[in-house]
Amino acid sequence: MTAEYKVHGDVAVITLNNPPVNGLGHATRLGITDGLSKANDDAAVKAIVITGAGKAFSGGADINEFGTPKALQEPNLLSVILAVENSSKPVVAAVHSVAMGGGLELALGCHYRIAAPGCNVALPEVKLGLIPGAGGTQRLPRVLGVETALNMIVSGEPVKSEMLASLPGQKLFDKMAASAESLPEEALAYARSVASARPLPLVRNLPCKHPLGDAYFQFARNMVKGMAKNFPAPGKCVDAVEVATRQKFDAGMLAEREIFINLMWTPECRALRHVFMAERAASKIPDVPADTPQRAIKSIAVIGAGTMGGGISMNFLNAGIPVKMLEMKQEALDRGIATIRKNYESQVKRGKLKQDKYEQRMALLSATLDYNDLKDADMVIEAVFEEMSVKQKVFEKLDEVMKPGAILASNTSTLDVNKIAAFTKRPQDVIGTHFFSPANVMKLLEVVRGAKTGKDVLATVMALGKKIKKTSVVSGVCDGFIGNRMIEQYGRQGGFLLDEGCTPSQVDKAIEKFGFAMGPFRMGDLAGNDIGWAIRKRRYTEKPDMKYSKTADLLCELGRFGQKTGAGWYDYQAGKRDAIPSKLVEDMIAEHRKSLGITPRKISDEEIVQRLVYSLVNEAARILEEGIASRASDIDMVYLTGYGFPLWRGGPMLYADQVGLFNVVQAMHRFARNPLDDAKFWQPAPLLAKLVAEGKTFNQ
Ligand code: NAI
Repeated sequence: MTAEYKVHGDVAVITLNNPPVNGLGHATRLGITDGLSKANDDAAVKAIVITGAGKAFSGGADINEFGTPKALQEPNLLSVILAVENSSKPVVAAVHSVAMGGGLELALGCHYRIAAPGCNVALPEVKLGLIPGAGGTQRLPRVLGVETALNMIVSGEPVKSEMLASLPGQKLFDKMAASAESLPEEALAYARSVASARPLPLVRNLPCKHPLGDAYFQFARNMVKGMAKNFPAPGKCVDAVEVATRQKFDAGMLAEREIFINLMWTPECRALRHVFMAERAASKIPDVPADTPQRAIKSIAVIGAGTMGGGISMNFLNAGIPVKMLEMKQEALDRGIATIRKNYESQVKRGKLKQDKYEQRMALLSATLDYNDLKDADMVIEAVFEEMSVKQKVFEKLDEVMKPGAILASNTSTLDVNKIAAFTKRPQDVIGTHFFSPANVMKLLEVVRGAKTGKDVLATVMALGKKIKKTSVVSGVCDGFIGNRMIEQYGRQGGFLLDEGCTPSQVDKAIEKFGFAMGPFRMGDLAGNDIGWAIRKRRYTEKPDMKYSKTADLLCELGRFGQKTGAGWYDYQAGKRDAIPSKLVEDMIAEHRKSLGITPRKISDEEIVQRLVYSLVNEAARILEEGIASRASDIDMVYLTGYGFPLWRGGPMLYADQVGLFNVVQAMHRFARNPLDDAKFWQPAPLLAKLVAEGKTFNQ
């Protein structure tokens, strides 16, 4: 049962009951129309109430039906709302907690609405690249006025029911209940009070005008253009609401439908819907059931108070979890704490954090030089130098002092978590938590599952990731895990492009125009080119066959490590971050080409983008095949939340799907024929070749 029908004297109550948020799936929609029929057929019933069980009136569409034919199966939401409007007995929506999307549209179709205070009211479709598709753009302006309605539709943000009810002249809510608890009784009483009122009021019959007309919509369009950038939906929200002010209701409904359907097929909408689902999927681990017992994490210890240790600590302080930091020397501890303090103080100055909150957070932070002080912590995160010998000492010590059952995590970005686990006698308690810099800001957390990591440990860390508001993605153990393993291939392509004729700024501009937050060379200058240099030096001995451009090494030999040394691929003026193309670097690259006997060629932006993005895709296909990532959408989440991949393209895997995997593979064959590139790398990963052969995509 996803909608219940019950008669209370002369009022029939239809209660949506489709947990968790009473999504309007097919069975629920049927439940509503069945209930309406029963009530209209029952002479004893004089009025009808529609409400929601549990934690919501209704959160709107049922996400399980997203993109499936079931979403459109009759009765679809439009038909349900029509049936409500056509009821010969008054229908009262009794809304509480959540009335969003289709849920709000259903309420708008009812003859009357009574609301509990504290209800979140929204039309959030724009966040999925859509406009409301069941009359929201036509009815909401009629009850709230054009400006308030358009603000809600364009932003998709929730507004509290009591705030909306206080707007002068609003017709959204006919009555406010005293509380959520009293709503059921008050709704019954209200339904009785309107039982014999005729004609039944319909939102569709209300007028819809903005006094400024054209001028207002011109203004709204300009505002939205600046905000929406690469997304078409916000501008289309303005179009749809404008139609509501210009045309009759039914014509407006047709226009809304047409805009909705057209948006549905845009790559941007596909990307946003994909991300919505991918985010939910990432938290599910195929062999770790949702009810896996978790360990209680009430306190955290962090080893190393450097760049990462400080940022990592802030995540937990922000979530109200006490943190104890350990360092080798008092100066390092003092520096680490001062950095955290400075960070919070700047947030206070910018009005982002209240003084008392800042003090509360700092009060949760303590520091020590003695491992014995950590023994009671529920979890420890190591963020010391990236050297196996240093990690070994730390983990042997942790094994000695930490209480049984404590989770031992490493923030290593490249080292083998299985090896680290083997330094302890409790490998089941060891896991990788790979934060991204700045760790208090970046959304991504790669959770690295060792061969022996316990399922309860994994489940606990995933839940903890949620608590500190990260997007957590599980990765298996391999060099670089998901994100950095892929970025290495991307960086190699960047180098080859320089050898063949590009300048760093040409490469950066092309990929930034594609939508990346930052091109590979600006990113190198920000992160420090010495990090990549150290990795390459290791590779030269570990993988002597792996081909790299030498330009990055030449750059580092000049001491140009990036912003921190005032010079990298670009020049920097003292105290500024603007990347200025460097004549010295361009000459160095040209000189290097000459020494290799390469005649530079003009390379198109299209080739630059394809080589950079498809290098990610090919490596990702190998990562998927090896089971390092459990699904393609996890890889997309890594790139969207950790590497600045453009959101409107949905991540590298969805992008490849949209380009067509056949086309991607064709391009790879072309790149493999380039003698200056790496032919071996460009052999399509077996999984990719298989998908092409079967006519499939990464995200089926
Ligand atoms: P960092 O050099 O800024 O900080 C390391 C800190 O660890 C220093 O303050 C040092 O005094 C302390 N330390 C070293 N050995 C210690 C020991 N035996 N006991 C206690 N403290 C010790 O380094 P960073 O950048 O914070 O990196 C730390 C870890 O995080 C590394 O494994 C690195 O690969 C990883 N990582 C770094 C990222 C970055 O962007 N910097 C991103 C993701 C991971």
